[in-house]
Amino acid sequence: MSKPRLLFVCLGNICRSPLAEAAFRKHAADAGLDAEADSAGTAAYHVGKSPDPRSVREAAKNGIDIARYSARQIDEDDFFRFTHIFALDQSNLHDLRAMQPVNSTAELALLLDTLPHKLGVSVVDPYYGDEEGFAETWQDVSEAGLAIVTQLSAPIG
Ligand code: 4NP
Repeated sequence: MSKPRLLFVCLGNICRSPLAEAAFRKHAADAGLDAEADSAGTAAYHVGKSPDPRSVREAAKNGIDIARYSARQIDEDDFFRFTHIFALDQSNLHDLRAMQPVNSTAELALLLDTLPHKLGVSVVDPYYGDEEGFAETWQDVSEAGLAIVTQLSAPIG
């Protein structure tokens, strides 16, 4: 199987998807899984910006430096460059489905659908809330990141 290439997508690419990318990278490294990861936003509001300082602090608490991540907007090429695209919430999943090219090769899914007890659940947008919301975001994306790594590491058959 070719190397998995995963893209995590939220709205602004400054709060949730950078944390999802970081959590996945951490779990993949811990498991010795060779995979690529990136993140993007469906919106262009924050293109070129660093992650929200609250996301940077939350990642740092978990031992990961995301200060140098830079926000970008998803584009059509991403549906061919990545093997899996995970939407952080239902609204972004809807927007991704609307822009997905008919011959797209990426598998598109809701991030928390990787967790049997969170099927259909969106990762709550912490942008307008307090720091506590970012800890909750981390819990969600870390749990999902571990589930994805476990799934991708499972022997076939
Ligand atoms: P994100 O959070 O989608 O998790 O990066 C947001 C960031 C910015 C905005 C909304 C959500 N905004 O409206 O600017």
